Amino acid sequence: MSKIKGENIIKNYNGTLALNGINIEIEKGEIVVIIGPSGSGKTTLLNILGLIDKPTDGKIYIDGKYTGNFTEKELAEIRNKKFGFVFQFFYLIPELTVIENVILPLWIKEKKFNKDFVEKGEKFLSDFGILNKKNAFPSELSGGEMQRVAICRSLICEPEVIFADEPTGSIDKNSALTFFNFMEKLNKEKDITFVIATHNEIFLQFASKIVYLKDGKIERIEKGR
Ligand SMILES: Nc1ncnc2c1ncn2[C@@H]1O[C@H](COP(=O)(O)OP(=O)(O)OP(=O)(O)O)[C@@H](O)[C@H]1O
Ligand SMILES: [Mg+2]
Repeated sequence: MSKIKGENIIKNYNGTLALNGINIEIEKGEIVVIIGPSGSGKTTLLNILGLIDKPTDGKIYIDGKYTGNFTEKELAEIRNKKFGFVFQFFYLIPELTVIENVILPLWIKEKKFNKDFVEKGEKFLSDFGILNKKNAFPSELSGGEMQRVAICRSLICEPEVIFADEPTGSIDKNSALTFFNFMEKLNKEKDITFVIATHNEIFLQFASKIVYLKDGKIERIEKGR
């Protein structure tokens, strides 16, 4: 399932109102693009909808269930089982190699290592043109390479929802096209939901819903495709 609903979300960072009364509903199988200028609250909203961060006020429902009184363990389980993340600043684990970073979510999800994971991870790395970097450490990669590793890692578990924060900000046109192709394919074939925060209007053509964010508020919501 994985329907997500945010009700009157407020996020106050010591006086900075990053989100000021957001109401949003995301149905299964949507591609929701959250677009807005720098500082408008995109990352904050993505982290709250993805249950990484908690709102100061307001409610998040997943499949109709209020999440405000879930334990950390319950929240982590939803994140791990249902969600995939491409973070704006990648957050690769520096001590792990590229292939280890990519397969880590699968390893955690399945609770034990299986060598098929490596094959699966290598396939994604190959699709994104970085299989030759599989044994490198994150510190040895360019920004665009790191972003491609982060994308592969978000795809490895085939989650129900992928939250992607400016996922093509550091990559070249070809890798961006690979990402768009994957997004469309996973969305069509597996009904995977995408929630994407971006400045990049190129995403608008793929969106089922476009959320225009400004100063922590939704200016308007447009229906896409
Ligand atoms: N941890 C934090 N502590 C204090 N203020 C924060 C924190 N995170 C974000 N903010 C503030 O909240 C507002 C929204 O930030 P956010 O990162 O959500 O914006 P954004 O739309 O993702 O911007 P960008 O396009 O630059 O990534 C900004 O004013 C920012 O300075
Ligand atoms: Mg951001």
